[in-house]
Amino acid sequence: MENFTFYSPTYFVFGKDTENQAGECVKRFGGTKVLIHYGGKSAIASGLLGRVEDSLKKSGIPYVTLGGVKPNPRSGLVYEGIELCKKEGVDFVLAVGGGSVIDSSKAIAAGTVYDGDFWDFYMGKRIEEALPVGTILTIAAAGSEGSGDSVITKEEGMFKRGASGDAIRPKFSILNPALTQTLPAYQSAAGITDIMAHLYERYLTNTKEVEVTDRLIEALLLTMKHEGPRVIADPNNYEARANIMWAGMVAHNNTCGVGRSQDWNSHNIEHELSALYDCAHGAGLAVTMPAVFKYCMNHDVMRFAKVAVRVWGCQMDFDHPEVTALEGIEAFRNFLISIGMPKNFEELGAKEEDIPKLADILCNGDGRPGYIEGFVKLSEEDCRNIYKMMV
Ligand code: NZQ
Ligand code: ZN
Repeated sequence: MENFTFYSPTYFVFGKDTENQAGECVKRFGGTKVLIHYGGKSAIASGLLGRVEDSLKKSGIPYVTLGGVKPNPRSGLVYEGIELCKKEGVDFVLAVGGGSVIDSSKAIAAGTVYDGDFWDFYMGKRIEEALPVGTILTIAAAGSEGSGDSVITKEEGMFKRGASGDAIRPKFSILNPALTQTLPAYQSAAGITDIMAHLYERYLTNTKEVEVTDRLIEALLLTMKHEGPRVIADPNNYEARANIMWAGMVAHNNTCGVGRSQDWNSHNIEHELSALYDCAHGAGLAVTMPAVFKYCMNHDVMRFAKVAVRVWGCQMDFDHPEVTALEGIEAFRNFLISIGMPKNFEELGAKEEDIPKLADILCNGDGRPGYIEGFVKLSEEDCRNIYKMMV
């Protein structure tokens, strides 16, 4: 196991009706003027936004609102949010929505207290300071409610890039599984896929003997395998929603990733797809992961065979571990298809003729060195080959 530090100070409030505690939570963390940031229509239609506003009013906390965050959030609204926060003297950003709203909120929080262009953080500068952020989560997926990360797309050039820093870890996150019951099945499935990707991308490590985190990841993957189909079959299954919601947080606040190298090639390869085609991040991952895993399998075939046996119930073939490894990848792919995820470029809405452009932006765009490096180092040609496998 490698040396590590782990700092995850988010205060979680989990369960039914907990959004009514928003005002108290903001007060607890010193907020005196709030920006409520939200997405399209779901938070208004469900009445959630109204309940959150009532809670702030009850606690005597003034607020301004800014809606309109799109999935795969854009830089334009972030600039707008930063201006609004400065003009209104906002000292707390409250995200009401999914990963896109939370990431946009984190970018606004960091940009408001920074003299330069907030995009500097998405070019590699670490976020050391930000306004405090709180979240009220409406979809179990990105894990942004417990992570120190934010992903934004710069409209000019459509670069989708991430920024990190403990300063943007939410001060509190309110997790009410019932709020996720209004999700369309496709979004639920995309969320399930993203959570599983966060687990797989930590499982794919070059660090030896990390049994605790290996076993935690396997347990969470087994949970997703069990609970995923239950929420697709019955969107109102509160207990299954609850298990998935907590799994989504644990999968990405790095509890399962400490002391080990991690992959993230699948995420980087996918980010170009959701940037160009505006597809759901999880749907893009469903098409990306099986291709990446097959391409990189021989780098450590026993690791793929291990997850095949322990999670997907495959029989270990000691003479031909590559057979077991491949069976596990296929079982995972079939699982994703069974919950309604796309299986190839066509179903995702991606185009074969864009492959050279996708690989170029991925490896060279916005200051990248000509390759990406995770579990395996991938050249631009490797990335082109992987995209071709998805057609
Ligand atoms: O805008 P509204 O109307 O709210 O609709 C949203 C959106 O269309 C809808 N939705 C959310 N909650 C709902 C609901 N519809 C009905 N009922 C509800 N309760 O779902 C759609 C997707 O929302 P979005 O926030 O985009 O989903 P998700 O949480 O999957 O976030 C995706 C973004 O997070 C980034 C992704 O790249 C993508 O941009 N990621 C962020 C990470 C992080 N910060 O740590 C890590 C992830 O790997 C990921 O890259
Ligand atoms: Zn993700």
